[in-house]
Amino acid sequence: MMENKIIHADVLDGLKMIPDGIVSLVFYSSPYNAFAPGGLSGKKYGDHDDNMPWIDYIDWLKEVNIECQRVLRTGGRLAINIDAITNRQEDKDEEYIRPIVYYLCKMMKEIGMLFYTEVCWTKQNAVGKDTAWGSYLSCSTPVLRRNHEYILVWSKDQFTLPGDDELSDMTRDEFLLYTLSHWIIPPETRRLGGHPAAFPEELVKRMVKLFTYRGDLVVDPFCGTGTTPLVAHHYGRRWIGIDNDKKFCEYAKGRIKKEDVYSDIQKRSEVLAEAKEKKRKKNESVQKIV
Ligand SMILES: C[S@@+](CC[C@H](N)C(=O)[O-])C[C@H]1O[C@@H](n2cnc3c(N)ncnc32)[C@H](O)[C@@H]1O
Repeated sequence: MMENKIIHADVLDGLKMIPDGIVSLVFYSSPYNAFAPGGLSGKKYGDHDDNMPWIDYIDWLKEVNIECQRVLRTGGRLAINIDAITNRQEDKDEEYIRPIVYYLCKMMKEIGMLFYTEVCWTKQNAVGKDTAWGSYLSCSTPVLRRNHEYILVWSKDQFTLPGDDELSDMTRDEFLLYTLSHWIIPPETRRLGGHPAAFPEELVKRMVKLFTYRGDLVVDPFCGTGTTPLVAHHYGRRWIGIDNDKKFCEYAKGRIKKEDVYSDIQKRSEVLAEAKEKKRKKNESVQKIV
């Protein structure tokens, strides 16, 4: 079996190793194609050309998403973390500011995925002191400093993920927090393994607990430092991580090796029974007072 493994491979080769219909959640943040000179983010990954012509980038992501769709089981979710807008200096004459969300939604509709939901991930003041001085205090061309990204979620064939409700492991407070569409989570700032863009663990925790049952299989086809596999492992899910950078793969393996699986789980039926009993006692005391 290839589960619980970090695969050092190109994303498409890695995904092709996974059989059809066995994955409950694919969660990834792809390279943003933002390493253009003059581009906003300037992120650079070891072996990856993060500066493709726009159409090539979109075609590549489509190929990746078709593979993700293939490995998902019925009701499985494909969740993508992406910046809201992308700019390439080279495209200035064509369409310089692109709402990437629009392109992804269109692409997913073409391949037959069902749009499920979106989360706005606010990273607080993560943009630092960047300011477009050319338009400082002017309404000529004010530039918004984005301190949010999106997580867009699609479902395969149906919205319900079949499974045993007892294997959902959110507490009441987690459920109430995670089902809000606006998540305020600071970005990962530790430069883990020298990586420029690792997920914060809290972000993955919410995705894994909200969208999968314990024991389900979670895949991150651009797993970098291994945050998704690490958190999936921690919460008793099976996992596969893929990355084409050997250094990050080694780092991810080392990170997961240190991890103990979380076993302190309260069954959903027990949580519900407790809540019911609490409510009954409360009603009883109200009746006595009356
Ligand atoms: C935005 S980062 C993801 C970081 C990850 N979520 C984490 O928590 O560390 C994108 C990752 O994609 C990897 N990557 C870039 N091109 C790839 C490709 N063609 N195949 C597989 N991985 C690729 C990069 O090495 C990088 O680690």
